[in-house]
Amino acid sequence: MEELVLAQKQGQVLVLTLNRPEMRNAFNFEMLRALAGQVDKVRFDSDVRCIIITGSGDKAFCAGADLKERATLSEVQVREFIFTIRNLFTSIENLPKPVIAAINGAAFGGGTELALACDIRIAADSAVMGLTETRLAIIPGAGGTQRLPRIIGRGLAKELIFTGRTVKMDEALNIGLINRAVEPEKLMESALEMAQQICENGPIAVTQAKYAINQGLETDISTGLAIESNAYWLTIPTQDRLEGLASFREKRKPQYKGK
Ligand code: COA
Repeated sequence: MEELVLAQKQGQVLVLTLNRPEMRNAFNFEMLRALAGQVDKVRFDSDVRCIIITGSGDKAFCAGADLKERATLSEVQVREFIFTIRNLFTSIENLPKPVIAAINGAAFGGGTELALACDIRIAADSAVMGLTETRLAIIPGAGGTQRLPRIIGRGLAKELIFTGRTVKMDEALNIGLINRAVEPEKLMESALEMAQQICENGPIAVTQAKYAINQGLETDISTGLAIESNAYWLTIPTQDRLEGLASFREKRKPQYKGK
């Protein structure tokens, strides 16, 4: 059987591709488990410094939950699905390395929520996003009600969630929902280029910066600054910090080892 999530290493970048194109990469239980397996595998893989998540085909990044499967689930199974997808996206958000969503097409419901759990969103300018759940008389259940307002502000998030309306990429860019929009043919190139730039930097520093931003933003500023301070402290005894100083002195590119 075709793998539901493809994993391909390109240097220090791991590209994970949701692979149910005929179902517009909608999440059924099996694809959730496949993605969770890949996330667990990469967490402690020090050869991977950055992750890109994309969808196969040119139609959809991810059409959200598999509504055909959903129709067959009992209430308890729906609860299990929502619990599983919410925890999976949180574990992606908490990965100790940056995750870039390369949004290659429609991202609705859980598709947009997956993108929101990533650190950076790059989209094909033909893509469309939306938290469309209320149209189905449900609500975003994989973090959307929490992450969308934190990214675009509560007023706009409420508008988008209450109306269930979808946004094109010029609007998405304007409201800060995505970091950048590129021509569809340039999407992977652009995501890989950004990932590569991240990979060149000190991996411990990047991990600590992500940690400080994610944890610090959820608290008051003095606690946030204490989190930043602790995160900085962790970089001080590293070999990489000394390598950074040496490379500056010797006018060469640093070679960071994550030590
Ligand atoms: N769950 C299950 N099947 C889905 C699906 C989903 N979320 N999204 C798409 N599919 C299936 C379609 O039913 C269709 O299957 P069929 O050929 O057996 O009819 C196939 O994928 C192709 O979908 P289609 O709508 O023809 O493709 P498209 O490229 O024209 O449009 C989307 C793609 C994503 C814009 C459109 O499929 C869509 O709006 N999907 C529903 C998204 C949604 O509401 N998600 C839930 C949010 S809570």
